[in-house]
Amino acid sequence: MIELYLDTVDFEAVSRFNACLPIKGVTTNPSILAKAGVGVNQALSGLTDIIGKDARFHVQVISQTVTDIVEEAKKIDALPYDVVVKIPATEAGLAAIKKVKKFDIKVLATAIYSAQQGFLSALCGADYLAPYVNRMDTMGSNGVEVVADLQLLLTQNNLDCKVLPASFKNTLQVMDVMKLGVGAITLPVDVVEQMISHPAVEPAVKQFSDDWQGVFNTKLSYES
Ligand code: G3P
Repeated sequence: MIELYLDTVDFEAVSRFNACLPIKGVTTNPSILAKAGVGVNQALSGLTDIIGKDARFHVQVISQTVTDIVEEAKKIDALPYDVVVKIPATEAGLAAIKKVKKFDIKVLATAIYSAQQGFLSALCGADYLAPYVNRMDTMGSNGVEVVADLQLLLTQNNLDCKVLPASFKNTLQVMDVMKLGVGAITLPVDVVEQMISHPAVEPAVKQFSDDWQGVFNTKLSYES
């Protein structure tokens, strides 16, 4: 089954959607944490309270040189949670991924803007790839096509690596990548809201209720 992540550290939103969806965990990045004013330790502790101890978290390194990325990755991996270390797929990042994988640390290659960049990250040993779908769309390339190419390359090369598309602005983008059979996905709060609501649903449910009460008043189904 696809791994479903929320791309937010908003505790209230995670609590709301964890109650009604099979959430695997949360993906973070430095911008998300900085915007919320919440550090990694506070975020993971609070999110574990909400989702449970089996939650998986994706945490990005801040370091930018190969040696520093490797050292930071080891520290992130040592946190008392199920953590995947996010490493931007730059030249230094690819070198770091090769080294980090020797320590059996789970890695997500992030900031992926092309199929070739993602594919090379997978060859370096990444466990997850995060192509930025909407950001590619807004830059004139086709985010869904890049995900399709990545998925094909992983399959052709029999690589044990999941595509975890990120950066969405609408449900069409989400459905298009899910139909490609991606192994994971991370969704922003506003897009999850769009996915679970439809203007026709509430009126339909109200009609059922009105029809029922007109005949059976306050009786429940099994009491009728
Ligand atoms: O981690 C990357 C993802 O959060 C990017 O999303 O909406 O900033 O393009 P966005």
